[in-house]
Amino acid sequence: MTEESPKKSRLDPEPIARRDFLGLSALFAAASTLFFALLGMLKLPKTAVLSSPSKKFPVVLPDSLATGEAFIPQGRSVAVFRDEKGVYAISTICTHLGCVVKNNPEGFECPCHGSRFSVDGTVTKGPAPRPLPWLKVTRNGDKWLVDETTIVTPGTKAT
Ligand code: FES
Repeated sequence: MTEESPKKSRLDPEPIARRDFLGLSALFAAASTLFFALLGMLKLPKTAVLSSPSKKFPVVLPDSLATGEAFIPQGRSVAVFRDEKGVYAISTICTHLGCVVKNNPEGFECPCHGSRFSVDGTVTKGPAPRPLPWLKVTRNGDKWLVDETTIVTPGTKAT
């Protein structure tokens, strides 16, 4: 007695070979991986790094700036002063861990760990290990050019 095979319709799909099935599966997996990788790249946030401003910049001091009063140019970490001997600039970046210090009538105070500096940048209360650096200032016509990359001896003033 022989078993009859069911009659095949011409609409029945061709049986797929095991090797072909595995190949198609691998191709589908690779295409899916590529698709989701590209989708992920499109959803990545745009760069958050802004171009850094120049470390040398001009400053126009207001006429109303009193002797010993700090002028802090917008967006800069520098305090510029004018007195009878000239113009000078002190960095407002704390020498402890780099916070921006706040200017007050007694000098500077760091909001992060409480360091204090006198008006000439000398440390009056730790933990800051060093005084605030004085920065190079040069005259450029009506403007003053502050160079954040060049530290000068405290007391150096431009005339
Ligand atoms: S960063 Fe200024 S005291 Fe620590």
